[in-house]
Amino acid sequence: MPEAGVAAKGLGRAVIFLGPPGAGKGTQARQIAESYGVPHLSTGDMFREHVSRGTPLGLRAKPIMERGELVPDDLVLSMVEDRISRPDCSDGFILDGFPRTLPQAEKLDEILRRRFQAEPLVVHFLVDQNQLMRRLTGRRTCTIGGEIYNIYDHRPKVPGRCDRDGGELVQRPDDREEVIAERLAAYERQTRPLVDYYRRRGMLKDVDGMAALGSVTKNVLEVLAQKK
Ligand code: AP5
Repeated sequence: MPEAGVAAKGLGRAVIFLGPPGAGKGTQARQIAESYGVPHLSTGDMFREHVSRGTPLGLRAKPIMERGELVPDDLVLSMVEDRISRPDCSDGFILDGFPRTLPQAEKLDEILRRRFQAEPLVVHFLVDQNQLMRRLTGRRTCTIGGEIYNIYDHRPKVPGRCDRDGGELVQRPDDREEVIAERLAAYERQTRPLVDYYRRRGMLKDVDGMAALGSVTKNVLEVLAQKK
């Protein structure tokens, strides 16, 4: 089992991190993708990059994200399919924030059947609703490397600056309370059904996302090692 920072081993499959906004998917995906030397594919990060570059996709996604709603499936799917087809994904990857609807999950099944023999593994992060609000309102993200902090539970050494690269730490525009409420509602409505979709097929493993950061990482690494 690799440890954080240990070089490439590959996963040989797609691993899906599933859970509500603020569950810790991005935090864990960054760490674990680095441990295995595989790409971390965050659809939220991809959209934020399109928004900051002002691309046509970014212009369409921006108002939707600001309302806390989901971007239409066709836009998400073509972006993900294109990213997965690149050579760096050949030894597996971690999906963070995708799939988020049943049509996205069905299309992903089809893409993955063509690419891997092993079935995808779904890691499902369990976190209380109250904790989610605290985590999201307290989140700060580095403008250079994307490192994730929290003003309550995971503070940088120097306030407002990233420990890794000194980048400025900022709040995401969709981390305001009224938008968070809509994002949590969208999760319940459109994404939660995927828990059953994957559990029924024996592909899903629950992980306690309420534990301390390091314990969650350790538990996810154990799940991945068991399923290798
Ligand atoms: P996206 O960027 O995917 O946001 P999300 O799913 O709402 O998830 P978050 O990034 O908010 O939470 P996370 O689980 O990654 O938590 P994190 O690790 O940061 O999507 C944004 C928007 O893009 C969507 O609303 C939608 O509009 C659009 N979009 C994206 N994908 C789409 C798709 N597939 N289909 C349609 N639309 C799509 O942690 C949160 C905080 O908690 C941090 O401060 C962290 O330090 C802290 N923390 C983490 N773990 C712990 C711990 N164990 N203990 C204490 N604190 C912790």
